[in-house]
Amino acid sequence: MIYMADTADIAALKHLYEFFPLEGITTNPTILKMAGQPLSVAVDQIKAIVGDGMIHIQVMSENADDIVREAKKYKTYFDLGDNYYTKIPVTPQGYKAMSILKDAGINVTATAIFTQQQALVAAKAGADFVAPYVSRLDNISSHGIDVVGDIAKNIIEYELNTKVLAASFKTVDQIYRVSMKRAHSATISPEILMQLIKHPMTDISVKTFLEDGQGLYDVEF
Ligand code: E4P
Repeated sequence: MIYMADTADIAALKHLYEFFPLEGITTNPTILKMAGQPLSVAVDQIKAIVGDGMIHIQVMSENADDIVREAKKYKTYFDLGDNYYTKIPVTPQGYKAMSILKDAGINVTATAIFTQQQALVAAKAGADFVAPYVSRLDNISSHGIDVVGDIAKNIIEYELNTKVLAASFKTVDQIYRVSMKRAHSATISPEILMQLIKHPMTDISVKTFLEDGQGLYDVEF
């Protein structure tokens, strides 16, 4: 499982990168709005934290030609290398732009995916990652986990190079379930990443070890 942070919150990102084995970050316009950061400021700060880790930046353009120009611009403007991924919603113009950008050597993440077919078409258009939105499906009485599972199954059966980037989580249990459905990666908010690694039994166990070990660890280091 590749873990990414779904955030532009710089303080949270710095904290997470101290210990969590993250492999990159994803952003979208809503995430920037929540962080109160314009793209140029956010990405510069993110770069300094994630180093060679993946940076997925969503486009705002709707027309394929504009999407292509916008996606290419960010790669040069932010001086990003192979760790740059352009995030493109799965609209007809988006699919068109994905193929063009892949041919131009730009990594593509297809986003705003709600069905297995949208993901499969994006994979055929060359997307490196496809991002199904789990909670947004669950919230309308649909089944986000099953959509993730179907996409992962298709990718394996059709031997595609695309990876599932499960997105839109509200619970740790959703992440457990997408892992069991063989999602390759997940992008997760800082809050849920922290919950993911917490367990009260771990805290109790560590406390007991500390108490029991008092006076017994006599080797200096
Ligand atoms: C990531 O690619 C998505 O944009 C994000 O996970 C959506 O999450 P939300 O449904 O919590 O806004």
